Amino acid sequence: MQSVSEQTFFLTTAANLIGVAPITLKRWLLEGKINDVQRDRRGWRVFTQSDINKIKAHTECAKQPAPKQLSLYTKHGEAVYEEKASSFRDSAFNGNKKLPFHRWVPWIAGFSSNFVEDCFNNYLDRSVPHSEITILDPFAGVGTTLTEGIMHGYNVVGFEINPYAYLSCKVKLSAVHLSSTIIEDECAKFLSYYNKRVDDQSYTPRSKPPEKFGTRAPFYSPDVARKVLIVMDYLPNINNLEVRDIFRLAFGSVMVSFSNYSYEPSLGRRVSSGKEEILDAPVESILAAKITNMSSDMYEFEELHADSARSVKSHIFNESIFNATQFCEPESIDLIVTSPPYLNNYHYLRNTRPQLYWLDIATDPKRLREIEHESFGKFWQTVRDQDQIPLDFRHEGLESRLDLLRDINQNKKTYGGAGWANYAATYFNDTYRFCKSVSKLMKPDSKAVVVIGNSILQGVEINTDQIFADIGEIAGLKKRDIILLRTKRTGSSIIDSSVRAAKTTKKTTLYETAVVFSK
Ligand SMILES: C[S@@+](CC[C@H](N)C(=O)[O-])C[C@H]1O[C@@H](n2cnc3c(N)ncnc32)[C@H](O)[C@@H]1O
Repeated sequence: MQSVSEQTFFLTTAANLIGVAPITLKRWLLEGKINDVQRDRRGWRVFTQSDINKIKAHTECAKQPAPKQLSLYTKHGEAVYEEKASSFRDSAFNGNKKLPFHRWVPWIAGFSSNFVEDCFNNYLDRSVPHSEITILDPFAGVGTTLTEGIMHGYNVVGFEINPYAYLSCKVKLSAVHLSSTIIEDECAKFLSYYNKRVDDQSYTPRSKPPEKFGTRAPFYSPDVARKVLIVMDYLPNINNLEVRDIFRLAFGSVMVSFSNYSYEPSLGRRVSSGKEEILDAPVESILAAKITNMSSDMYEFEELHADSARSVKSHIFNESIFNATQFCEPESIDLIVTSPPYLNNYHYLRNTRPQLYWLDIATDPKRLREIEHESFGKFWQTVRDQDQIPLDFRHEGLESRLDLLRDINQNKKTYGGAGWANYAATYFNDTYRFCKSVSKLMKPDSKAVVVIGNSILQGVEINTDQIFADIGEIAGLKKRDIILLRTKRTGSSIIDSSVRAAKTTKKTTLYETAVVFSK
């Protein structure tokens, strides 16, 4: 029990006394690594000296030897793993699911904020004030790197071609200037508006489902659809556009959960993956719970980072990274932390069709086709039928992999190896373009960390990370390291080039690495 006279400290001061960053202390609390502390009348966490002493003891225990990590090199064309002490935590996006801001929008193949923080610690010069450092994420996704950058007081800049993911970045970056109270008030108004209409059968929503959003089966059941349309009716009533965008993003983040579709990880009918259809759902409660999560993160943010974060400069562009030199000064970037689309043809755009159409952000099919063409690596569907696509640079190893691929399943024409070889060639041509374009933006000696996984196309293993590293060098960057972050699953890959004679297969591990470049 705390005595009346006992001195208490807010989280930021407590973190300073313990000797860790405020965000680290916050994470320990959220991850349950330390017991939660008392709160004052306003709900703010307050730490007593004895809390601080206990947590300090905890940090001593936490200083265990770093886990071993594998670093990947190529010797005589074979991948060789070498053990070294790890300085990175798990890179998978799963780690973000409980963390403030990062938990707002789930995203496929995003990486963890812990990993991003490790990159800051490993690759930034600690003697330079944070306010003089700029971090770039060329494939910003839902904004993991950018949000983490702001929380650490760095300036951030990002590019994201998908308008829904861009909305997520924009909302997170603007949320640091908004008060959580405005969101809570708006949420209360929304619930009152909604509750007045939902049981009134004489009320016909003014909003209509997006006309051009076609799905094989109805996306929402009739009951859910009516509720969703009442939500849509409410949105234009929110006068503050930043607040409206928070509501739109919250809706985008939960809208599939009450539909008859689900992510597996591509968007498909629930029934196709053995799940029941959703006949009815508490749409307003699901949405309000999301908004409450968001506003409580904003509230904590005010407590934790308000001063440092409000002074940082942040920019997010709904543009292709290939146009970056039109928006960023040359040699202005201190660190890149990013993860491009993998060579697995995951179609970000198609998988966000529900959000794009229902939030009315990219409904013109012509614009969607343009985005497909500007996307890094394009898509198999876009390039498979073209004549053989040559590489824009020389790389013997890759050329022979592509030749091997082209030979496979020739009877299937462009659905066989030839189509996939075109896709891979386009992907690596874009890798070359990407490396050339970002190298112009990087300061001398700055680093770029690119998280990427290997792939198996038509049974042929492609070591995307090693080829990426080589292409970076061809484009003028220096290859520093390839660090194995995690291994995922095992697939079959063809190792014999004489595929038509005797097909030899081996089990291949799918892995994820961080390719580190310097300029
Ligand atoms: C692997 S995800 C990045 C996820 C991100 N690290 C996160 O944690 O949210 C790759 C992203 O690159 C985006 N993208 C694809 N082509 C692009 C381009 N030419 N310019 C900018 N972004 C692009 C995709 O829309 C996708 O969101």
